Amino acid sequence: MQSNTEYKPEWIREDFIDFIAEKFDSIWAWKRIKAEISGVKVLSSDFIQLRLRPNQNFKVQDYQAGQSILLTVLIGGVRHQRSYSIVDISDQGQIAVAVKKQGAVSNALTALQAGDVVEISQPQGGFVLKPSAQARLLLASGSGITAIYALLAAHLRQSRQPIDLIYFTRDGAYAAEIQALAAQYPHFKFHLINTLQQKLHADAALLAQRVPDFKSRDCYACGASAMMQRIQQLYAQLDLTEQLHTEYFQIPADENLESQPVKFLRAQREFQAKSNLLESAELAGLKPAHGCRMGICNACSCTKVQGSVKNMLTGEIDSRNNAQIKLCISQAISPVVINL
Ligand code: FES
Repeated sequence: MQSNTEYKPEWIREDFIDFIAEKFDSIWAWKRIKAEISGVKVLSSDFIQLRLRPNQNFKVQDYQAGQSILLTVLIGGVRHQRSYSIVDISDQGQIAVAVKKQGAVSNALTALQAGDVVEISQPQGGFVLKPSAQARLLLASGSGITAIYALLAAHLRQSRQPIDLIYFTRDGAYAAEIQALAAQYPHFKFHLINTLQQKLHADAALLAQRVPDFKSRDCYACGASAMMQRIQQLYAQLDLTEQLHTEYFQIPADENLESQPVKFLRAQREFQAKSNLLESAELAGLKPAHGCRMGICNACSCTKVQGSVKNMLTGEIDSRNNAQIKLCISQAISPVVINL
């Protein structure tokens, strides 16, 4: 009987097929999803929109508004991935994402030009509209507008229920497009707050003033950590967390937690972790597998052998032995051992 661990040679090598195909069509690939930059639009001095023409492997039919894709770029020969919300997908199947210049990966992406080719993932993530006959409230700040804009467009296509968007912004990215939607759809109200001119926050007073019935609405929020933490606290105080749906684009660190020793068992390395475990491991020179860095893609999932971690998105504490965790959204609250 043959063992199923027996070495089986690959008769057809995927990378060889892709290498040959690339000579004829820059984005054709056997299994991978490659996409050509088909347009670049400047949204503000440090924010651009890329249009991507994906190859036949991208499952556009699986996309739901609010989801994101991972974009892969090579920097100094090393593959880096980041997650970007899909702003929209055109009738021709072209994907729009917006990229803010912040950090090496985003800087590399903002330097891309029409005709360049990148690798992307399938659409992913659960920040999508939940079926509901209720009115909705959308909250966005900064780059969070990209996912929120997609949700807004989906709501306007599907529902006649009232929807309000409160958008905190310095640069007004997508504000003109959203104003045009507000003019077109009477059941949509747009509250644009220029944070350079007004020092307003997403607190109970502001929500009650702008959207008096906000407590009876489903709320979707995506933005900077300060806004997200404020909104999560408010909904927890009001006992309305069931109605709140959030997407972070920056994983907040709990500054009040002390740094903890973390051991990667198989690598036989130990380091101090002060922020999420992925970032702390990287600071210590380790290179755990990762993708989105936002708790969406599962690429950084691993087994926590022992110790307690806090899920930075939900606040839940996990003290179980041999439990699956995602490094990118976990912060140690005791010494931790990881099977990596
Ligand atoms: S890197 Fe995607 S879930 Fe952690």
